[in-house]
Amino acid sequence: MSKILVNSSGPLHGEVNISGAKNSVLPLLAATILTDQTCIIEGVPDLVDVNVMKKMLTNYGSEIDDSEPGVIRTQMKEVKSCEGDAELVQEMRASVFTMGPMLARYGKVIMPLPGGCTIGKRPIDLHLKGFRALGADVLEDIENERVVVTTGPDGIRGDAIYLDFPSVGATENIMMAATLAEGTTIIENAAKEPEIIDLANLLNKMGARIKYAGTDMIRIEGVKKLSGCIHAVIPDRIETGTFMLAAAITRGDILIKNALPGHVRPIIAKLKECNVSVELLPEGIYVDARNEDLIATDIKTLPYPGFPTDIQSPFMAFLTTVKGKSVVRETVFENRFMHVVELNRMGADITVTNREAVVPGGKTLKGARVRATDLRAGAAMVLAGLVATGTTEISEIYHIERGYEDLVSKFKALGADIMKIEHD
Ligand code: UD1
Repeated sequence: MSKILVNSSGPLHGEVNISGAKNSVLPLLAATILTDQTCIIEGVPDLVDVNVMKKMLTNYGSEIDDSEPGVIRTQMKEVKSCEGDAELVQEMRASVFTMGPMLARYGKVIMPLPGGCTIGKRPIDLHLKGFRALGADVLEDIENERVVVTTGPDGIRGDAIYLDFPSVGATENIMMAATLAEGTTIIENAAKEPEIIDLANLLNKMGARIKYAGTDMIRIEGVKKLSGCIHAVIPDRIETGTFMLAAAITRGDILIKNALPGHVRPIIAKLKECNVSVELLPEGIYVDARNEDLIATDIKTLPYPGFPTDIQSPFMAFLTTVKGKSVVRETVFENRFMHVVELNRMGADITVTNREAVVPGGKTLKGARVRATDLRAGAAMVLAGLVATGTTEISEIYHIERGYEDLVSKFKALGADIMKIEHD
């Protein structure tokens, strides 16, 4: 198993370029299923999850040319299979984002269930509710741990769909399916994340008629056919936040380039509450934490434009180092405090009750052997390792590689003492 070793590094300093957003590129690639013409996606980050999505598309029948770095040309002239590959779905839950486009394009999709989930409950009940509302037949084949979705006798037809929670993936899946539906679809209580707008922009370039993406009521007028397009992925707001926190936790200063400040407003606001200076310069976001007097703040994760759940664990790593007690409340996911055990191994002394973590702050973390329990928790471990005494050894780093492009080299360029140890 490969590992990342991080040594106490002192203040980080320099410039970093943000990559294309993982959470955008995955649905964008899924959307290319909707046409038989060529789609060109630019600014694609080199990530394990992107490779999984490429394999999903190839398995359905796409021909993919990725010979140019950062660019994917893909065309699905015809559908060769409508069945998602079980191993790929196990590897990456976002594989289910291909359901909506497959249903719209081919009229049928068979999707093995993502690891450990129960049909009807999380994580795809809202996706299925949406498909049903569009007139699809949804067969929950519990025995074979898969779901079979087919268009009903009238094909896919537009309708009003209310999401009980503004799920990002369900909004994206329903939006993609509805592009080729007969009539108009309205998604109420839709997710408003920037990735939803990016997907709507791509779909509209393909000829879809989507309005009001980015609000909680998206309107999609179905069209008969979609065409190819060229589209560049938006910058990754979670990677942006991670490097903002790298400056903050190490009391350094970093200029973050190719980032969109409008997408990270809650992170900027919370860093400012902690006395970290954040300036929006023409060249990028400049984060300066050389002020020694950083203080605690409370965090509550929420759907966009609230504080992103994906930055909760990196922010918590930072809060262990500031003066005073912080309370971190997770409202989006039920069980997203696995990093607490790992931070406590490093001396953070955090306590969790239900969905609330109390971070006492003012700690000098100690290097330890820790696990990247998930993608963002892995980033939190890297941040903690930068300021911990001695060496922090992070295992299960495949989680980190799913979503951060060149993480080790980007941190090294900022002065971090970090290396990856390859093991079979
Ligand atoms: C996306 C992001 C992920 C981020 C999350 C929330 C991608 C690839 N991933 O995940 O990084 O953390 O948004 O911002 O874009 N839920 C249900 N039923 C459903 C769907 C979701 O109960 O059918 C629940 C989930 O269990 C969770 C909450 O809704 O508690 C939010 O999930 P959702 O917004 O769907 O997240 P994803 O799209 O999976």
